[in-house]
Amino acid sequence: MATLPLHVALTGYSASPQGELLVAGQPLGALAAEAGRTPFYAYSRALVDARIASLRAALAGQVDLHYAVKANPYPPLLAHLAAQVDGLDVASGGELQLALATGLPATRISFAGPGKTDAELAAAIAAGITINCESAGELQRLAAAADSLGRPARVALRVNPDFELRGAGMKMGGGARPFGIDAEQVPALLAGLASLPVEFTGFHIFCGSQNLHAGRLVESQARSLELALRLATHAPVPPTLINIGGGFGIPYFPGDKPLALEPVADSLCTLAATLAGKLPSARLAIELGRYLVGEAGLYVCRVIDRKVSRGRVFLVTDGGLHHHLAASGNFGQVLRRNYPVLIGNRVGQQPEEETTVVGPLCTPLDLLADRMMLPRAEPGDLVVVFQSGAYGFSASPLRFLGHPEPVELLV
Ligand SMILES: Cc1ncc(COP(=O)(O)O)c(C=O)c1O
Repeated sequence: MATLPLHVALTGYSASPQGELLVAGQPLGALAAEAGRTPFYAYSRALVDARIASLRAALAGQVDLHYAVKANPYPPLLAHLAAQVDGLDVASGGELQLALATGLPATRISFAGPGKTDAELAAAIAAGITINCESAGELQRLAAAADSLGRPARVALRVNPDFELRGAGMKMGGGARPFGIDAEQVPALLAGLASLPVEFTGFHIFCGSQNLHAGRLVESQARSLELALRLATHAPVPPTLINIGGGFGIPYFPGDKPLALEPVADSLCTLAATLAGKLPSARLAIELGRYLVGEAGLYVCRVIDRKVSRGRVFLVTDGGLHHHLAASGNFGQVLRRNYPVLIGNRVGQQPEEETTVVGPLCTPLDLLADRMMLPRAEPGDLVVVFQSGAYGFSASPLRFLGHPEPVELLV
């Protein structure tokens, strides 16, 4: 069995004795044949299932697990996830339709995000899902939509807390934010709910994402619950769901350590017990995106050309920034770093040259690997980008320069 670099091996892939990457036991070449062309994304059911099983075991039935559809809305993958999670969180009318199409009951779907249009609010009310309300203005528009539809809206208030998630790659709570209602404004809005055509379900607090520090997650989750309990004393009826977000990160870059799940899960179980004691009507929920699917996905493209420019080796591939903006370093990275990359048909061969892997776009931003030590690769070889199951296909400018879209496969 050929050896994979440690940070890749951790995600559960292996390779054949001939050095071909195996994904869920299938050789990469067979997957390329199934896709019919390159580039393609492949998402492994087995790796998603293993991740969910480990979370479920750690949470011991005490905490509900929601999936944030934005991480990867590929319908076959979404259907696979919907059968295993307690809820789906959507961020647009389009995602709402995808979530409803999985057959999950509407009561287990929630919709968060600033700038929901009147049409989206009406569709959400008509479907009977929970709307995580982001502002006083949105609450007014929601109430008007509920009035004209003649049915109450199920509403949770998304709270912008008065603290930040330390260590998060992307902060979405604390300070001045477009997301959620400032905690200090919430009591007054709760007091007004009784006169509106809404059914209050609880609170949603999402502080940030891509956090690999267990201690900081534990701290922010404890503070989120504390805040929800404090606000619940102002609610017109006892909440039934307290969603304290997630933010569980995955290791993308050399030196990143996987999140230590046990302390985070133990603390969540303790918080669930606290909640059960203080608000027996309410369940505790977390919502995770990349942690469920990020490590289960690969992006695969083919080397079209190998060239040496003034001593520097370039592999020019048929994939790039237009398919995988995040791996190019242009989706939220401050200093560009390489995602884990392999030549998928040369696993185990010695890295022998410093190689830069680029795409076909006429921009220096179109990089998949910058000056990475790789085995010598040739046209026809397959470049594999790991940690690509979240914020890949759907988070990329697919139409830029008019190249074909990548194929997606659930394997
Ligand atoms: C409200 C909300 N929930 C969930 C997520 C998913 O985050 P992640 O994929 O890092 O788990 C995000 C990410 O931006 C979000 O804004």
